[in-house]
Amino acid sequence: MRGFFLQKHKNTMENKQIVVSGIRPTGNLHLGNYFGAVKNFIKMQENEKCFFFIADYHSLTTHPTPNDLHGNVKQVLVEYLAAGLNPEKATIYIQSDVPEVTELYLLLNMNAYIGELERTTSFKDKVRKQPENINAGLLTYPVLMAADIIIHKAIKVPVGKDQEQNLEMARKFAKRFNRMYKTDFFPEPYPYNFGDKLIKIPGLDGSGKMGKSEGNAINLIDDEKTIHKKIMRAVTDSGPTEKNQTPPEPIQNLFTLMQVVSDKSTLDYFVDKYKNCDIRYGDLKKQLSEDVNKFVAPLRDKINEIKKDDEYLKKVVKTGADKARESASKTISEVRKIIGFKSF
Ligand code: TYM
Repeated sequence: MRGFFLQKHKNTMENKQIVVSGIRPTGNLHLGNYFGAVKNFIKMQENEKCFFFIADYHSLTTHPTPNDLHGNVKQVLVEYLAAGLNPEKATIYIQSDVPEVTELYLLLNMNAYIGELERTTSFKDKVRKQPENINAGLLTYPVLMAADIIIHKAIKVPVGKDQEQNLEMARKFAKRFNRMYKTDFFPEPYPYNFGDKLIKIPGLDGSGKMGKSEGNAINLIDDEKTIHKKIMRAVTDSGPTEKNQTPPEPIQNLFTLMQVVSDKSTLDYFVDKYKNCDIRYGDLKKQLSEDVNKFVAPLRDKINEIKKDDEYLKKVVKTGADKARESASKTISEVRKIIGFKSF
């Protein structure tokens, strides 16, 4: 089925497939955002028709102050550009500049059921973690995300592993719309990582994924000293006791980070040391912090440079909004027709 959709929609889109993805502006981007999402955005903008946005409506579920909201939107925009997103190749925009998304969100909400929304893992997580703020926006979060994606009729969505269930919901809502209105208007969107499994970058606290609010992240903007301090404090254990032992999660996490930022020979060297019970975690961490810094340094410099260029940022935002609205309003006017809204 998936192959069919990829092929079918390839033929209709000037031989380019439509790609959509976004990031919430809730803090600085970290290595998880980079390796789970942004790295693929940069590759995909070369050959596909890409829409990459800043999901500021989504970030309202945590009630940011107006100043924080604007500052965070600017930060993600700057970090997108510093990482290599190119406004001449991809449409880069701010979600709230495209109000058509909210109309589609409303329309899709009519066919989204409370039961299925309450059952999503991320909603259940939020209920557990922030019982004082279970708002309706959190419940319908997957519907807004589906609207983001299908408003451009995207089929490829480059995201990290944690977004898998949201993508499943987006497919469900797209298919349900098609079924209800006896159409094949919306293609089915799929999470995408060039045929590989979706990525989950671990945090430095021994368990779980790297996250903006978990306090376990290395940010693209972190300076050398901060990176060193964070990595030296990462959770480890007292060391392997038997040869060829499988590393426990906190150690495996450090190897996973090393896998994305270091040379293969460096990783092999430390894995070997671990297998031979000869590893010194201090050395491993020192090497990892050097390699992370080497990776992050050019990005950090670019971020600081682009941040100062307000004129350029303004131009990028305006061009992106115009292009995104053109695509979104075309979809919305067709959806209105399909649903049966008619002008008098
Ligand atoms: P957000 O802002 O939490 O994360 C943005 C992107 O970064 C990926 N990511 C990770 N990947 C690997 N390892 C990690 N530790 C890690 N942490 C974050 C996420 O998978 C994501 O790709 N709901 C979305 C934003 C969104 C969206 C969309 C995405 C709104 N509408 C439409 C795609 C399409 C979110 O909260 O991502």
